[in-house]
Amino acid sequence: MSESVARRFSRASESYERGAGLHRHVAARLMEMLPDPMMIGAGRILELGCGTGVLTTLLRKRFPAAFVCAVDIAEGMVRNIQGTNAADDRLHCVVADARTFATLQPFDLVVSSSALHWATPIESAMVNIVRALKPGGRFMAALMVKDTLRELHALRRTIVPDKIPRGRLPPAGEVLDALSAAGLTTESRTEETVRARYRSADDFLRTIHAQGLTGGAVSQAERPLSRSDLVNLVKAYDLAYPELKGGVYASFEVLYLDSWRPFPEDGVSP
Ligand SMILES: C[S@@+](CC[C@H](N)C(=O)[O-])C[C@H]1O[C@@H](n2cnc3c(N)ncnc32)[C@H](O)[C@@H]1O
Repeated sequence: MSESVARRFSRASESYERGAGLHRHVAARLMEMLPDPMMIGAGRILELGCGTGVLTTLLRKRFPAAFVCAVDIAEGMVRNIQGTNAADDRLHCVVADARTFATLQPFDLVVSSSALHWATPIESAMVNIVRALKPGGRFMAALMVKDTLRELHALRRTIVPDKIPRGRLPPAGEVLDALSAAGLTTESRTEETVRARYRSADDFLRTIHAQGLTGGAVSQAERPLSRSDLVNLVKAYDLAYPELKGGVYASFEVLYLDSWRPFPEDGVSP
C-alpha cells in the first residue's frame, strides 16, 4: 500500500503546488506552535512527509542555524525539493518511509504537516518517531483525521452506496492513543475544521486528485467509480454544497499535536 502512496504522490509532485492552499494554511498554523528558534539553535530537525517543501521552506527561514532532514516516501517529491534547495547545505533530503526511517543521530524536533495520516497504521509511525527523537525532544504535527471530506463521503454513501471506500482516516482519539502507547507525552492538542472553497465540484475533484488524495483505501472502493458515477457525484455536489461566494466547499478536519519524549528517569519512556 505504501508503494502505491509513494507512486501517487510522485506523480502528483508537479500538479500538487497548484492546489496547495489548504496545506499552506495548515503548515502556517503549525509553525505558530513551534518552539522559539533559540531553543533549537544549531540543533537537528526531522520533517516527515515533506512533499514539495511547503513546511520545509518555513522551517529553513525560522530555524536558519538548525540542520533539517526532510523525508518523503515519494521520490518525485524529494527530487523536486532537492532541485530547488541544491545550495542549502543545512538541508538534507531523503526518500524514506516515516514508519521505518532510521537515524544514528537523534533529533531535537520532529515535525510533520498534512502527511502522517498516510503512514498507516499510525502506531508504526509513532513508534518510529520516538526512536528518532532525543529524550526531551519535541514532536509537533498536523494531520487529517476522521470527518475530512465529510461532504464527499456523505454523498458517496447516498449516490453510490455499493462503492464505499474500504478504509477511513483515524479519529483524533486513535492518534492520541497511538502517541501515548509509543511513549510520547501530549502537551497540547487542537482540532480545526478547515473549510476550503473550490470553483465547482469538478474543480474540487480535480484538485484533490492532483494532490494524490483520491487514491488509497480511504477513497477507493473495491470497485472503482464509473464515469457516470462521477458525473452524478459532481452534479449532486454542486447542488448540495454551494459556497455563498460561489463555487462549492469541502471540509478538512485537522488535528494539531504538541508532544515530547520523556527523559528515561521520568520512568515512562519506552
Ligand atoms: C499532502 S502531502 C503534504 C506535504 C507537505 N508536508 C505539505 O504540507 O505540503 C503528503 C506527503 O506525505 C508523503 N507521505 C505519505 N506517506 C508517507 C510515509 N509513510 N512516509 C513518508 N512520507 C509519506 C507523500 O508522499 C506526500 O508528499
